Parts: sequence; structure tokens; C-alpha cells
Amino acid sequence: MMDKHAQPLLNHLGAYPFERLKKLFRHSTPNPELLHIDAGAGEPRLPLPSFVQDTLNEHIQGFSKYPPTRGNADLQRAIAAWLKRRFHLPHLDMRTQILTANGTREALFAIAHALVNPEAEQKPYVMMPNPMYQIYYGAAITAGAEAYLLPCLVDGGFEPCLDDVDAKTWERTAFIYVCSPSNPTGWIAGHDYYARLLELADQYDFYIVADECYSEIYSDTPPVGLLEVAQGLGRTDFSRCLVMNSLSKRSALPGLRSGLIAGDAKLIARFAKLRSYTGAGTPLPLQAVAAKAWADEGHVAEHLEVYRNSLRAFFDVWGKAHEPAGSFFVWLPVEDDEAFAIAAYEQQAVTILPGSYLGAEDAQACNAGSGYIRAALVDGEDKAAELAVRLKKVKV
Ligand SMILES: Cc1ncc(COP(=O)(O)O)c(C=O)c1O
Repeated sequence: MMDKHAQPLLNHLGAYPFERLKKLFRHSTPNPELLHIDAGAGEPRLPLPSFVQDTLNEHIQGFSKYPPTRGNADLQRAIAAWLKRRFHLPHLDMRTQILTANGTREALFAIAHALVNPEAEQKPYVMMPNPMYQIYYGAAITAGAEAYLLPCLVDGGFEPCLDDVDAKTWERTAFIYVCSPSNPTGWIAGHDYYARLLELADQYDFYIVADECYSEIYSDTPPVGLLEVAQGLGRTDFSRCLVMNSLSKRSALPGLRSGLIAGDAKLIARFAKLRSYTGAGTPLPLQAVAAKAWADEGHVAEHLEVYRNSLRAFFDVWGKAHEPAGSFFVWLPVEDDEAFAIAAYEQQAVTILPGSYLGAEDAQACNAGSGYIRAALVDGEDKAAELAVRLKKVKV
């Protein structure tokens, strides 16, 4: 008899990386002689931007109202203005081409449920980089799709490799997640990469979801965005394109839970329908803070300086290595990533994430994250240097 309580799709997912990490460390204690450095989670730990407290006080009464799911007009206007400024999109329409989200995590997850047809004769593919932000994988599986993994390897500069994908696979593809700048590798999609994907999307009828959460953290020039490339190619309706961005990294406000979704009006309408069922609106006082944060570049420039100095401080100690073009993660090769993580914790009181927890096994049982560790430089310059000193001392 069929078990009515079984959750077959969810059961295909393993534990989330941080749960796995807890389990990995269950018999370990961090070296008590050292202060713990937590470089495991990508959680910025910079001072609150100065406008947060006052704006919150000013709008406190908003907690007594239900917030609109799509965001209120002030926030939508601030988001549209930022996207127009940052990505040179003069014609972006705030009414039809923008939605707000409670951070992008939930939106990146939910989008699969709006773009995948689980009743298709053959399971559709959702393409994604490998290693990846694990939400993409969970979203694809629970939406009834199959995850198609694009290996991101050091020899290819960690670019999600499109070369080996054949026509049959593209035909089955419902959509692709691109993460640029990439968590965890720091790779950035250039103009040509996005342009090629747009061509393929037209040829094989699929959508592109670009996770650009780290777009304001980069080593030299600001990364190009998917919508900007689309518009440059004459695609002013952004057809087939959705981008997600967030205040969590740019403004160091991960607890605010505020992000944006922008692009193709048809996809936005479809997503808005799904979100009218699933997505809670961001509380109004938080929307007011978010509107201020999208409008202010001063604090973002200060944060960028801290991230750049932290990366410099880390690599000054660590020495020659792959340096990320964007994001605040370092992605370092090691022999055995789990063994290294345990040793770093026990010997040096450092928490980092084994790379295999950010990858998935492909058909050849190869996990493109294995043999790497990810460390987040989120505590400023001094801690970044200290982290490099301690990681260098780890003996496996
Ligand atoms: C690649 C990537 N995308 C999206 C997110 C989600 O961020 P938030 O939900 O805070 O906007 C994260 C957070 O760590 C991330 O690393």
C-alpha cells in the first residue's frame, strides 16, 4: 500500500550543509586556547548602516498592518532606481518587471515551482553550477525536475561549463541557475557568457535565473548583470530572464530579509501569482529600511573596501592561489575537505565549510566541490589575516 505520509521528493535531499557540518563536528571541540573564528557561513558581520535605527523607529507603526506581497511603492521605486542606475536600464518598469522578496533564498527556491512542469513526459532539467548554493538543488528536486550539473573546474576558471551539453539535454531544460559572482568559487559571468546563454535559451526554449546577490562585492570592475546584457542585445523586454539580488551581502543586512526579483514581465506575473499563495510580504518597517538601503551607496562603498582589504590581507599571508573575482569567499584546494575542516576546528578553532557539502555528485559519482574548502571573509581585515595564519598551520 502506498504510504500517504511519504515525501518522496524531499527525501531525495540530504541534510543542508550546515546541518552536515554540525554532525561532522559532533565529536570535536575547538582548540580552547584560541578565540573561535567562524568562517563557515556567508554572513556579513559589519556594523549596521547608520540609517537603520532611525528609519525603523520612524516606521514602527507599520507592524500593525499586513504588508503587500509585491512590496510597497516606495520600496519598488527604490529598487527600480537602483537597478536603473547600477545596470543602465532606463526603461525598466517598476510596476510589471519588479517584485520584492524576503531575501532571495526563498525566491530562488520558489522560482523552480513556477517554472517547472512536473507533469512533463520526461522530467525537465534544471541546470545549475556544481558546486552551487544548495538552494538551487533543493528547489529543482522538490519542484519535480532533475538537477543537471555543470562542472565548475579550476582549469576552466570555475566557469560553469556549457561545452559538453548536447541538444537533447538543452531541449529538456526548463531553466538554468547562474550565480554571478559565484558562491563558492568567486567566478563572474562576463558579457559573452550571458549572451551565449540567451542565444541557447531562444534556441531551446528555456529561462535564465541569475542569482546576482554578490554583484556589489568584486575585485576591480563592477560585474555586468544579465538584464544589462539582454538590453544591450536589443532584448528590452528581458524575455526569458529573471535576476535576483539582495541587501544581505551588499548592505550587510542578512537579518533584514530583503531582496528583489526583476526581469521578464510575463515571468514576473507568473511568479507574483505563486507568491500570492506562498510568499509573505516583508513587514512594512523593514520595507522602509530596505528602500533606504537601495538608495544609499555610501555604506556599500565602505563595505566593499572592507571586503577588498580582507581578501588582500588573507592572500598576503596565504600566498599564491586562485583569488575570487567577486564575493567574499575563498575557495582553496585541500587533499580531503572533511578531514581538513575537522583539523581546522580542533587545532585552530576555525570553522570552514568542506567544499563537497556545496557540490552534488554527478552521473560519474564526481562531486566538483570535493577537495576544496570554502572560507567566508566576513569579519574584517585583521580576522582575515589571522584566519590565513591559522589555516596555514593546519596539519591533516
Ligand atoms: C549565492 C547566494 N544566493 C542567495 C543567497 C541568499 O541570500 P538572502 O536570502 O539573504 O538574500 C545566498 C546567501 O548566502 C547566497 O550565497
